[in-house]
Amino acid sequence: MQKLNVNGRVVEVDAEPDTPLLWVLRDTLGLTGTKFGCGAALCGACTVHVDGEPVRSCVLPVSAVTDTQRITTIEGLSSDRSHPVQQAWLEIDVPQCGYCQSGQIMSAAALLARSPQPTDAEIDAALAGNLCRCGTYQRIRAGIRRAAEIAARPAKS
Ligand code: FES
Ligand code: FES
Repeated sequence: MQKLNVNGRVVEVDAEPDTPLLWVLRDTLGLTGTKFGCGAALCGACTVHVDGEPVRSCVLPVSAVTDTQRITTIEGLSSDRSHPVQQAWLEIDVPQCGYCQSGQIMSAAALLARSPQPTDAEIDAALAGNLCRCGTYQRIRAGIRRAAEIAARPAKS
């Protein structure tokens, strides 16, 4: 058995050490918002955060993650879609088929956490590994710019 900290909860999972984290999240824990695309770290559909950093869970062995590291999936980004990236995605209606979008959102959220007002070059670099077969790239970039605006708004008192 291995302990993992997923979306703020410590869980015990029974998996072979070389099982990709993606399959533990999806099959063992039922967190199916994270998608399988290529299985080879090429498309970004499986992106989750480990300690806030975007990682490709399809190639990360579950044994490489300790229970002191925080794993965040799309389900754990916010409980009510109130994360600025999720608000912006809804406002701009970014997705088409939606398959790539949880990975896009997780990469975007990690970018904004380390660079709250990213330049276009930073956006391009951070999202370069997230492919979208529907070609929603312009809306993704607009969504990130909008999310940066939403995050910069003063909180309501
Ligand atoms: S499924 Fe992991 S990068 Fe494509
Ligand atoms: S919205 Fe369809 S693959 Fe990106």
